[in-house]
Amino acid sequence: MCVSLGHKNKAVIKAIEEQANQLAFIAPGFATKARAELTKRLLEVLPAGLEKFFYATSGTEANEAAFKIARMYTGKTKIIARYRSYHGSTMGSIAATGDPRRWAMEPAGKVQGVIFAPEVNCYKCPINHHYPECGIACVEYIEHMIENESDVAAVLVEPVVGTNGVLIPPKEYFPRLRQICDKHGVLLIADEVMSGWGRTGKWFAMDNWGVIPDILTTAKGITTAYVPLGLCATTKKIGDFFEDHYFSHGHTYEAHPLTLAPAVAAIDEYKRLNLIERANTMGEYMGKKLHALKAKHKSIGEVRGLGLFWAVDLVKNQETREGFNTYKDKVSGTPLLVDKVAAEMMKNGVFIQAWVSHFVIAPPLIITEQEIDQGVNALDAALKIADQAVAA
Ligand SMILES: Cc1ncc(COP(=O)(O)O)c(C=O)c1O
Repeated sequence: MCVSLGHKNKAVIKAIEEQANQLAFIAPGFATKARAELTKRLLEVLPAGLEKFFYATSGTEANEAAFKIARMYTGKTKIIARYRSYHGSTMGSIAATGDPRRWAMEPAGKVQGVIFAPEVNCYKCPINHHYPECGIACVEYIEHMIENESDVAAVLVEPVVGTNGVLIPPKEYFPRLRQICDKHGVLLIADEVMSGWGRTGKWFAMDNWGVIPDILTTAKGITTAYVPLGLCATTKKIGDFFEDHYFSHGHTYEAHPLTLAPAVAAIDEYKRLNLIERANTMGEYMGKKLHALKAKHKSIGEVRGLGLFWAVDLVKNQETREGFNTYKDKVSGTPLLVDKVAAEMMKNGVFIQAWVSHFVIAPPLIITEQEIDQGVNALDAALKIADQAVAA
């Protein structure tokens, strides 16, 4: 999922080596060649208008920076996130996480001021609507929240929700959310830690809808995960605000040269190998294979995906769409059916990410058709465990 160039990419390894030889560390206030080079590359690949960058060392930290920027810039406090989401594990980012990783931190171990909106999930709509007759009520409800809460600084979204199920919004969702945010002076933050770097067949998932967020955070694929780097990118207008308002934020390892140089190499490799385009062609191939599995297995409720980002949702009953396990089971340590399927696949040398009652399939962008076949065949064989559970 994050080693997007696969292991042992020579160009990225060489960049780490050369940077270590040239300048392994310098305090973050200094300009470096690696920083200048990466900044130039980011201006080419990020959604237009995102021009001011803060370099952190994880997705979590990038989100923490985003929350502080949003609160300081707007002078407002509240952040609206969505239930099916993960944004990191520190006190701010866990507070913004909708999924049950937050529960253990309620209420004292998290910052205050985050409220939750219903997620967009057309397969299991949290408000029991049906697309398109619903008129995307889930996004209209966010406006209702903003109007009734007051003091909302930002709406935070994973443009395509990752761990919580590769939830892809209908095409109207983000253009409408952008309008709502603009109307109310609320910032739109896109957490592209998982959905960025070609994963959805575009450089960034927001590019699928041509919507530009006020803040974009990312990590993982930025260095193909060889070294820890996070990025918080924002607009010139927001960046300029901090020219005369002290941005009380930073780390010793901010803009660490050893993290920046491999990002330059990784971006060059994505381009050289044409991997953004390849995510579409290989994604189409993988999607066909996964849809063929759905036709065969009664335990599969839905297969959905974009680019090389797919989910296979398992259900006890295709009519009711009830999953095999719940978020409560996950937190209480109850053995999960998806984990049994995943363990069976591991016996065949295939690792799959299992979460509650679905799988997330997000392989390196260099994956071959043969490797996809191997993975899908292992899933096909292991799904007998889930099919038997349906029958029981
Ligand atoms: C969407 C999303 N946001 C934030 C994070 C946190 O990033 P990190 O683990 O680099 O702190 C993750 C990690 O999986 C993620 O998937």
